[in-house]
Amino acid sequence: MAQILLPLSLLSLLVSVALADLTRIEHSLKNDGSLSILVIGDWGRKGTYNQSLVAEQMGKVGKELDIDFVISTGDNFYENGLTGVDDKAFEQSFSDIYTADSLQKPWYTVLGNHDYRGDVIAQLSPALQKLDGRFICMRSFIVNSEIVEFFLVDTTPFVMKYWTTPEGQHYDWRDVEPRDTYISNLLQDLNNALQASSANWKIVVGHHTMRSVSEHRDTAELLKYMLPILKKNSVDFYVNGHDHCLEHISSTDSPLQYFTSGGGSKAWRGTYIPNSDKLQFFYDGQGFMSLKLTKSDADIIFYDVAGRELYKWSMAKINQGHLPSTVAM
Ligand SMILES: *[C@@H]1O[C@H](CO)[C@@H](O)[C@H](O)[C@H]1NC(C)=O
Repeated sequence: MAQILLPLSLLSLLVSVALADLTRIEHSLKNDGSLSILVIGDWGRKGTYNQSLVAEQMGKVGKELDIDFVISTGDNFYENGLTGVDDKAFEQSFSDIYTADSLQKPWYTVLGNHDYRGDVIAQLSPALQKLDGRFICMRSFIVNSEIVEFFLVDTTPFVMKYWTTPEGQHYDWRDVEPRDTYISNLLQDLNNALQASSANWKIVVGHHTMRSVSEHRDTAELLKYMLPILKKNSVDFYVNGHDHCLEHISSTDSPLQYFTSGGGSKAWRGTYIPNSDKLQFFYDGQGFMSLKLTKSDADIIFYDVAGRELYKWSMAKINQGHLPSTVAM
């Protein structure tokens, strides 16, 4: 027996090492079984470029929807992230801006490429939570709410040009390099977590675009390495920022829906480059997104800087089938 037991215990040790699990946060649903959130990206400009106006409207919509939390798709502090945990930009771009009662909820936050130009270790530091307990920023992690799992992923290290042609910028690759190992571990963790998920909704969140018709267009590295994992594991939505606009694009060869919410401050790029997936909605200005989920239904709304509803999209899921229904406003 001992001869059998020894290899088995070694094997289980190896397996648990290989499954370097992503950090999981449990966030409970409302009593009625629903969840409402706001998604905002590309915001931290000390209130300028209409950041404050967007924040005010988020406060109103957040109250109406009685939101449970906020997701930030990154580029939290322009232009170059935080200089340290004592950087006043943290208060000036976050705490002093999103002051509405309804926004005093957790902000589950990923890093954007501009955040990588500063002190990333500082932006990830729990010391910031002593200044403002809402700010929960990690590289890659999971928020689980029973009917939905959000898989928040660190996309900046994927993008080759930040490594090879940083154009005078410094990227803080501490704890990331070498790139290949970091990316392959992350993809494996993501794949394992998606495979293990039994949630009704699987939503992946990253800073960079997968499909976008605005300035940054698609992110080739994500299409190559991450998109196959999303499609294979029946991910419902990929939600990102990076392009400073609001977009909904439907995959033409899978049920995957792409949503860009990157309108937190500076916008109006004036760029439109179509791609081969189906563009459902594109707004080149400031704004944000709400998402309401129940076990069977998803409702997504985009709002502009004045809080006007620009676009509404709903989807019902019956058993394993997808029955999308679109209502444009
Ligand atoms: C801010 O929003 C107003 C509309 O309320 C718009 O006229 C203005 O151009 C916006 N400013 C910037 C910098 O985008």
